[in-house]
Amino acid sequence: MKIEIVHDQQQGAQLVVEEFQTLLARRSGAATFGLATGDTPLAVYQQLAVSPLDFSTSTSFNLDEYVGITPTNLQSYHYYMNKNLFKYKQFANSYLLDGQNPDQQTVCENYEKLIAQHPIDVQLLGIGRNGHIGFNEPGTSFESRTHRVKLSETTIQSNSRFFDDQNQVPRYAYSMGIGTIMAARKIILMAYGANKAAAVAKMVNGPVSVAVPASVLQRHPQVEVILDEPASTGLSVK
Ligand code: PGA
Repeated sequence: MKIEIVHDQQQGAQLVVEEFQTLLARRSGAATFGLATGDTPLAVYQQLAVSPLDFSTSTSFNLDEYVGITPTNLQSYHYYMNKNLFKYKQFANSYLLDGQNPDQQTVCENYEKLIAQHPIDVQLLGIGRNGHIGFNEPGTSFESRTHRVKLSETTIQSNSRFFDDQNQVPRYAYSMGIGTIMAARKIILMAYGANKAAAVAKMVNGPVSVAVPASVLQRHPQVEVILDEPASTGLSVK
């Protein structure tokens, strides 16, 4: 794991944008990006939106989506991506999991087939306070592929900040599995703020265990971890 401590999210985002630029050049514009939602990657999308980068021959996949809400719902990850990135940058193909389709087998198998056709060059990740990546909660198999997930109480509580009340937070989501994420050629995980420090420390210095899904990244050959100072305080080696 390569660990970079940055001053703030803007500086972290700058590193990511530079990597995207290099990748686009290397692939002559036809790269495949794995994207994430949440607070963590927001600055990346803000900087991409005003950058000259051209994604018109690239492909994107999103990590996850809630089940049972429409793409126009303000809390859906479709809505987030349209609002923060796709409104500004169009990709040749942008794939998101269809949270409106209750047929989990079809949704998940189709997604895996599409990813197999367009292997992900770089996957962006945040990390949950419980160490989750995507919606892969503690206990999820490292072999898992795209699947339907029952959200943990911690995640429901944490995500309730975006909803009017906790009862509106969906209880299920579709998510790339840990095996799907690990198949990406490169992974960039960002974490900002002291409330991520414990999860970051377990991810980097702890044993590789399904109890901390992000710890599996220790086994990936190309991982970059971008942290601000508060998120890095639990690390034993800096
Ligand atoms: P956040 O979420 O970026 O909103 O902190 C990250 C996550 O829970 O994976």
